[in-house]
Amino acid sequence: MTTPDHPSVHPAWLPDAATSFLRGRTVRVVGDGPLAETVRGEARRAGATLVDGDADLVLRDTGAVPGGEGFVVAHGDGHLDVAADDDAALLHAWFHVVRTGTTDPAGHADGRHEPAHALRMLDHWDNVDVHPVMGQVERGYSGGSIFYADGRVREDLSRVEQYARLLAATGVNRVAINNVNVHAREARLLTDGLPDVARVAAAFRPWGVRVHLSVSFASPIVLGGLATSDPLDPDVRAWWAGAVARVHEAIPDFGGFVVKADSEGQPGPFAYGRDHADGANLLARALAPYGGTVHWRAFVYDHAQDWRDRSTDRARAAYDHFAPLDGRFDENVVVQVKHGPMDFQTREPVSPVLAAMPRTRLAVELQVTQEYTGQQRHACYLGPWWSEILRFRPWGPVEGDDGSPTVSDVVGGAGPGASPQVAAARGGGIAAVSNVGDDAFWTGHPLAQANLYAFGRLAWDPALDPTDVLDEWVSLTFASPSVAGDRAIDPDVRAALHDVLDDSWRTYESYTAPLGVGFMVNPGHHYGPSVDGYEYSPWGTYHFADRDGIGVDRTRATGTGYTGQYPAPWRDVYESLDTCPDELLLFFHHVPYGHVLHDGTSVVQHVYDTHFAGVERVEAYVRTWEGLRGTVDDAVFERVAERLAEQLRSAREWRDQVCTYFLRASGVADAHGRRIY
Ligand code: GCU
Repeated sequence: MTTPDHPSVHPAWLPDAATSFLRGRTVRVVGDGPLAETVRGEARRAGATLVDGDADLVLRDTGAVPGGEGFVVAHGDGHLDVAADDDAALLHAWFHVVRTGTTDPAGHADGRHEPAHALRMLDHWDNVDVHPVMGQVERGYSGGSIFYADGRVREDLSRVEQYARLLAATGVNRVAINNVNVHAREARLLTDGLPDVARVAAAFRPWGVRVHLSVSFASPIVLGGLATSDPLDPDVRAWWAGAVARVHEAIPDFGGFVVKADSEGQPGPFAYGRDHADGANLLARALAPYGGTVHWRAFVYDHAQDWRDRSTDRARAAYDHFAPLDGRFDENVVVQVKHGPMDFQTREPVSPVLAAMPRTRLAVELQVTQEYTGQQRHACYLGPWWSEILRFRPWGPVEGDDGSPTVSDVVGGAGPGASPQVAAARGGGIAAVSNVGDDAFWTGHPLAQANLYAFGRLAWDPALDPTDVLDEWVSLTFASPSVAGDRAIDPDVRAALHDVLDDSWRTYESYTAPLGVGFMVNPGHHYGPSVDGYEYSPWGTYHFADRDGIGVDRTRATGTGYTGQYPAPWRDVYESLDTCPDELLLFFHHVPYGHVLHDGTSVVQHVYDTHFAGVERVEAYVRTWEGLRGTVDDAVFERVAERLAEQLRSAREWRDQVCTYFLRASGVADAHGRRIY
């Protein structure tokens, strides 16, 4: 099959130039599954010649591992030979060859490739209707939804097909197509909206991507007219069984449900005195006969907290709610845990829930959409951050690699003490909130495409170096065809993109909230600085700055006891001021402004220094980008330039507000005498 390009959108990482090296090559695709047909379509589109006999590239569906996604690359007799486990693997193998940019066996290492995680999922926080406060895409910074327009699923889904193709090229294999906050209209996707959801599923299917829906726990009431949605009520059980049967009639390969329950006002099992295991298992049992999965989110906390109450700690909430339920969830439940205990901040410790539930399939949830990392107006490549999270070792060692399990291992079902069921299911994998909308560049900021690309690649292989992944994205996206038929990339473009993006997450961190303290954003929309924006609010996100110091005491000795949710060595590393990493200092400790960091700087001087340095970095990004004028596509150039100008304005605003706040609070002058207002 071939997907017609939507005429007005940027081809992202699959412009024709990315596959120009295939032009005139001979390709043989052995396999009769539907995805083999997709691969043939891709070969034709790239200008390759499909043959039945000898070929430069031979891709074979061996059918050896049905449902497997791995493939083996070998040097055939003067050609490249790729043996794929099954139909889906054939497509992964195709895009592997596209990424490497050559069919020459010499350009390939022999070996097996397979995903570290079976479930690699993107969650869209898209509403069918335009929400009065959140717009159409909640925390979306790329225009409206690619799925919905005018209050219904779009007639023309060619854009969705193009998106599915982009995702297939990164290895993503699951997509949830509506917001976890399920409003009245969106709830109906499960019932009268099904024929339309089936059309969306049909657009994804040729690309090996299965569709999931976010559902309301109150569906039996709001859709079924029942008086209750009590998970132990037989009528409720029967309603869900019927609903799921109808879904599977319409969409035989339906993936399952995503559920946000008893969180930020969403309905859940608490109303009936039941717990999250009761709630999740209700849906799991309805889905089980069809092989469907429930992604049940662990993002549960008290959002109506009193700021005067120092005993409640939002960071503790997910663990306190979920860890005691370990072992009670059915095999087809995945408990989906945000990577940090708070909410997708620029810097947080890894959630202790990930080390506390060995008998539960866990997924780690990342946020590709840049809610707290510059909202796709700031360049912020998140690959390095996700890489740190996925490689974090909850049981140590603190430094180095002794082969101890990582977060990636845990969500791959290979953590310490993993039950046989969790291991057999290979855990719950990785999920993330998508950053895509109907914007011509897909992601608002064209460089934010790199985050979407990196998510898929790191979910497939968390051991990849995020800078290498960025380089892949650069090669594919900014490829230009050369006379030789090989794709080529201007070295200046490559260097400039690395200059701007490689350290952009750390740059963003440096001019926003310091030392892991988090938030300090404008309430509601979360863009731009407001040091006290959430300080007296009900959301549980405080920094407790006063004239003497700042930070949240989460120690066991004198604070909220949150450090005790970690296994050793982290429970002790975080507990002690001597060993707590500086970048998380204010997350774990309340310290005086004069407290000296490991590098010898005081906390307040660190705040000044990093904020000034961060702005200087952004000034350098602006200059670097300006140097590409006339070298990259004009529309891309202009959009990025416009975003960088806003990033610079905003970074200065952050610097001036944060530095001024702490100068006023502490009375400590900047050692370098810079201008602070
Ligand atoms: C954040 C975000 C919300 C979202 C929530 C969630 O709080 O601001 O818009 O609904 O996360 O993950 O459910």
